[in-house]
Amino acid sequence: MIKVAPSLLAANYLNLGTEIQRMHEAGADWLHFDVMDGAFVPNITFGPGILKAAAGMKTIPCDVHLMIEHPEKYIERFAEAGAHVITVHAEAAVHLHRVLHQIRDCGCLAGVALNPATSPECLRYVLGDFDLALVMTVNPGFGGQKLIPAAIEKIAEIDRMLKNAGVQAEIEVDGGVNESIAPVLVEKGASVLVAGSALYGAKDAAAFIRNIKSLG
Ligand code: DX5
Ligand code: ZN
Repeated sequence: MIKVAPSLLAANYLNLGTEIQRMHEAGADWLHFDVMDGAFVPNITFGPGILKAAAGMKTIPCDVHLMIEHPEKYIERFAEAGAHVITVHAEAAVHLHRVLHQIRDCGCLAGVALNPATSPECLRYVLGDFDLALVMTVNPGFGGQKLIPAAIEKIAEIDRMLKNAGVQAEIEVDGGVNESIAPVLVEKGASVLVAGSALYGAKDAAAFIRNIKSLG
């Protein structure tokens, strides 16, 4: 079954609790929580305090996407705040293997995110050390951008790499995902789709989520 992860970045910040509850009731699987530091990406968003409040609602598991430099400094904070998955960027993690194990040691699932221009080769020597590969289909930093088609093939490359190694991991796709591109992403091997602006802007969020989940 395909998982749908609404990105809180596209929610109405004055009503975060209601927005989370709405996505929970609409059938979402994970709550995608975009953390930006104004250094790794040119934008600043939420920290562990907001995550703690969101996770404390005990609705759906929180999928934390760290778009920050020195992610190793903050793993424990986000784990304690209630993260289910913590994903770090390969471009920001100097000691990727170490930080992935740091995440698992905190009891969370460990994810590696790749920017659109980053080769999937950087996953080769950490196969088995992560639970999720996040393929960015936009340059991270902002919601509402158009998907970069060149990044789509990377999903299939990672899927092949995992299968050849006999390793189980989710492949998550993030950036510019909508109902029309979703079938292509799933066909390439995606198992978790993040949706921000398209989902929050949809007239019927439950139908949007149902349609995507029925793809796999
Ligand atoms: C971008 C974030 C995405 C973003 C997705 O840096 O990582 O999660 O919020 O939003 P849409 O679906 O609007 O591209
Ligand atoms: Zn994200």
